[in-house]
Amino acid sequence: MATKAKPDLTSIAPAHGVRHAAIIMDGNGRWAKKRLLPRVAGHRAGVEAVRRVARAAQELGLECLTLYAFSSENWKRPASEVSDLMGLLRHFIQSDIDEFHANGVRLRVIGNYRALDPALVEMIDGAMARTAGNSGPIVAIALNYGAQDEMVRAVRELAARAANGDVAAQDIGVADIDAALYTADLPPLDLMIRTSGEQRLSNFLLWQAAYAELYFTDMLWPDFDGRALAQALDAFRLRDRRFGGL
Ligand code: IPE
Ligand code: IPE
Ligand code: MG
Repeated sequence: MATKAKPDLTSIAPAHGVRHAAIIMDGNGRWAKKRLLPRVAGHRAGVEAVRRVARAAQELGLECLTLYAFSSENWKRPASEVSDLMGLLRHFIQSDIDEFHANGVRLRVIGNYRALDPALVEMIDGAMARTAGNSGPIVAIALNYGAQDEMVRAVRELAARAANGDVAAQDIGVADIDAALYTADLPPLDLMIRTSGEQRLSNFLLWQAAYAELYFTDMLWPDFDGRALAQALDAFRLRDRRFGGL
């Protein structure tokens, strides 16, 4: 036999046991500051890290990688930085969608992205529709995302259903809330990673992280790569998840 078929890693349960990892990609500004560069240079380097890590996630057999790209609180930043971030995002989707699609990745955007610039919304919807039928891993970008907003939306939806008589208030349970979140069709969250040394969730996936393992690294996001992701997965492997049991 001349060549051996490359195994489809996504169909083999990987030894690390992580189906879904989420990353709070923090530290772009500090990375730039260390180099006496403008903050936008850190964000640009951060996009390179996204590319590396998305590829690595696929090689490492993750079913889903969720990346926190812009929080509902990041609007508090100067308008010029917000505009730099939106510009980078637009460029990223435009330039990388072909590679994602070729690799069988399903691109998802979670968060209130519909409130963004209509041209960007159209681009996002197009990218999601184009890759929806793929069978590879999901790369979910959290954009204008806030977990508290997400929960408020879920509560409103369920309250409206209760008011309509579609569901009795006392019958609403965990599964109904799960189903009303942006992450309804994503695998359960196993691992939450945050770079840059900060140890907080900053309004990211608060409900979904109920039993996720937390992993903090001092590495700044633009320095993160496949090796760093593999290290986080190794650390996860050593954790003893009990879910409240013994
Ligand atoms: C993370 O890097 C990127 C976004 C929040 C969009 P930061 O911009 O927060 O970088 P630091 O925390 O200032 O170093
Ligand atoms: C969290 O980082 C948001 C993203 C990575 C997109 P921040 O830099 O906004 O978080 P805080 O302000 O330090 O909590
Ligand atoms: Mg930050």
